Amino acid sequence: MTESTLGIGFIGSGFVTQFHLQAWRGVRDADVLGVYSPNTEHAEATAAKARELRLGDARPFRSIEEMIAAPEIDCVWLCGPNHLRVQNMQAICDAIQLGKGKLIGIACEKPLARNVREAQRMVHLVEQSGLLHGYLEDQIFAPVVTRGREIMWSRAAALTGRPYLARAAKEHSGPHSPWFWQGELQGGGVLNDMMCHSIEVGRFMLTKPGAPRSSIRPREVSAQIASLKWSRPEYAEILKKNMGTDVDYKTKPSEDFARATINYVDEENKPLIVEVTTSWSYVGPGLRLTLEVLGPEYSLSMNSLDSGLKLFLSREVKGVAGEDLVEKQNAEQGLMPVMGNEAAEYGYEAQDRYFVQCFLDGRQPEENFYDGLEITELLMTAYMSAEQGRTIKFKPAGLDTYVPLVAQGLWNGR
Ligand SMILES: NC(=O)c1ccc[n+]([C@@H]2O[C@H](COP(=O)([O-])OP(=O)(O)OC[C@H]3O[C@@H](n4cnc5c(N)ncnc54)[C@H](O)[C@@H]3O)[C@@H](O)[C@H]2O)c1
Repeated sequence: MTESTLGIGFIGSGFVTQFHLQAWRGVRDADVLGVYSPNTEHAEATAAKARELRLGDARPFRSIEEMIAAPEIDCVWLCGPNHLRVQNMQAICDAIQLGKGKLIGIACEKPLARNVREAQRMVHLVEQSGLLHGYLEDQIFAPVVTRGREIMWSRAAALTGRPYLARAAKEHSGPHSPWFWQGELQGGGVLNDMMCHSIEVGRFMLTKPGAPRSSIRPREVSAQIASLKWSRPEYAEILKKNMGTDVDYKTKPSEDFARATINYVDEENKPLIVEVTTSWSYVGPGLRLTLEVLGPEYSLSMNSLDSGLKLFLSREVKGVAGEDLVEKQNAEQGLMPVMGNEAAEYGYEAQDRYFVQCFLDGRQPEENFYDGLEITELLMTAYMSAEQGRTIKFKPAGLDTYVPLVAQGLWNGR
């Protein structure tokens, strides 16, 4: 690349795009110049937000094709809903095939796709297009995670041996848009939505810095899913009222709890374990991310709700409901955790900076579509294990065409 500043276009103007815009205040060498959303008003509002934050002279686009063809757009951040992922990617590739624009890179939100077949399609399309590609997994860029990993490996593991157990969790009280709750659209329930983060951060912590992903290998997966809260009649009613009649958890639930254990082996075939749990049935102050890593003479732990700032609001402070203190906030009173800079602390800022730098240098990011594909394979193996009630060797036969019952709308909640 000869240019020193990249032009970025966002596909999607929803919740996650707003996080990326907040993060972009800490990103150098890239201006936000475009936003596409099928809802023109949303695209305009998000482009206006980017301009207001002085992130670049962003303008709304009426189609993906038009945005890809725009000469100022060098890279795309793919942030649409899961069920439109492949369609969005196809639209990008079709525009490139027609010789439109000068795109060099694409960064795709998690999960890469709803199942293995679709994830393979994403990989195929990106390979065919010749674009550089990144898989957006913010947690492995969170400053506490990268700093913790660096110190743990350089100081403790170097002297006493590698870490062998990582436990990770992501939990909150449930997602904000109806499509997340619909198994067929989202690709599953909370397992597909959030376990992708925990699996990857666990794998990341147990991988020696500088060593390839293949240095530790998944061998088997055991998992369990359940609908603990949202299929209860009173909560199914609340959900339908808030999310619309297409979200009916009395007849068609998705799991709101999932756990999995992934057994890996290291370079010497020694056992390593990644233990993950996730839920949409956790009611605390807000989104909670936890991580623990154990090694022979050390351990590391973090909890995102143990924030540096706690704000106490008495019963006289009767404000409206919001998410101004922490993502997926559940209260506006009492002792509440506050994040100083959420987008940075969750990892969005370092993540977006990293991908911009890679694209600017013409370098393939280390976290890319191949990683997204392997994570999808692990998630689908976890669903298989939960459905069959047994531990499954990785990779199982039939994985390529497997679609979880939850994603077919056929799961009965048990
Ligand atoms: N990294 C994270 O922690 C994290 C957090 C939230 C969401 N996500 C991921 O980001 C993606 C978007 O999630 P969200 O929370 O922003 O969802 P959302 O429901 O808030 O927004 C979805 C957006 O998709 C756009 N859209 C609708 N139809 C489209 C189409 N045909 N083509 C392109 N865009 C279309 C709209 O702009 C809409 O605002 C999902 O894949 C989700 O899994 C990641």
